[in-house]
Amino acid sequence: MSSASYRIVALPGDGTGPEVIREGRKVLDALAENGPAPWRVEEHPGGAQYYQKTGRELEPETLSAAKSADAILLGAVGWPGASLPNGDLAGGALVLGMRQNLDLYANVRPCKLYPGVVHRIGKAYQKVWAPESVDMVIIRENTEGLYTPARGRLRRAEETEVAIDTRVITRKGAERVIRYAFELARKRPRGAPEDGAHRVTCVDKSNVLEGCRFFRETFDRVGQEYPNIERDYAYVDAFTQWLVRQPEHYDVVVSTNMMGDIITDLASALQGGMGFAAGGNIGDAHAMFEPVHGSSPKYAGKNQVNPTATFAAVEMMLRWLGERHSDAGLIQQADRLDRAVAKTLADGAARTYDQGGTVTTSGAGDRVAAAVRAEPR
Ligand code: IPM
Ligand code: MN
Repeated sequence: MSSASYRIVALPGDGTGPEVIREGRKVLDALAENGPAPWRVEEHPGGAQYYQKTGRELEPETLSAAKSADAILLGAVGWPGASLPNGDLAGGALVLGMRQNLDLYANVRPCKLYPGVVHRIGKAYQKVWAPESVDMVIIRENTEGLYTPARGRLRRAEETEVAIDTRVITRKGAERVIRYAFELARKRPRGAPEDGAHRVTCVDKSNVLEGCRFFRETFDRVGQEYPNIERDYAYVDAFTQWLVRQPEHYDVVVSTNMMGDIITDLASALQGGMGFAAGGNIGDAHAMFEPVHGSSPKYAGKNQVNPTATFAAVEMMLRWLGERHSDAGLIQQADRLDRAVAKTLADGAARTYDQGGTVTTSGAGDRVAAAVRAEPR
């Protein structure tokens, strides 16, 4: 067991962010009760609601705390009506700002369907996809593409005439995220559910866009260094239907920023909805983990949303820390948490409203915490 202590900076943020982070901390505490717990969590305020109160999205100390932390755990940001004077999303400093400032270039979004989870399609709760056919990781480039801050408006006499967003694909940006995808594919034990192949699928629009053509060339160049990993290709439009109709084909998927944003929300439907979707924003020196669902203003303060995505984010964080610091105890804790979440989902004990259930956010947290305590170390 390592004697190190990892500093985790938690940024609960807006809306339901604080509610799910509270449950995330609850399961961390449960893990600590009978296993190594070399972490301490410090919370910092920030986000859109904080901006409305103070005129600042976050304090300078929070940015420096995040920079010196071993890992960051983000809740969610965004609040209706809260925007910066230039029109940008208030609270964006915690998400987009951190991605840029800490150079978190790979947005890693696992899409795995656990037994017991149902899909809401229309008004019905159904089992549509088989758990054994959905187990992929989508890697989204996280620092450039259409999110490059090279945008603006041309105004004439206060009237907007033109609005421009510039999509930038760089050699370095493409290469490092693609390499991340191949390295991950090398490490994943099982490969694609369909055939066990270790496969990386490049999702782009290279039949039209120059940046995508460059992204795909880079994919082929980097991919040649990984002869045991199959290179697979999909245009993003076709990909959306293949993803839904044959998810078992996919192992690791890599795409550019905006396309990755869109396809990961679609993919979340395969894992039961946004209540299950977690992401890691990962760079060479820093990492930030988050539930992807956002602040859900409609549900804020109602103790209703599904905290599973936050448990998955906590699990990713422990695993990332464990791998980075060769700390087997942390990896065991991540495994315990994963088993506890899987058990709770399998017996339907923690079904929140999005699953057609009535369990509250804190009730789901209590049940997963109990399952964690029941897990052997
Ligand atoms: C996400 C979110 C963010 C994004 C928003 C909140 C800026 O949609 O993490 O996918 O667009 O990247
Ligand atoms: Mn998104």
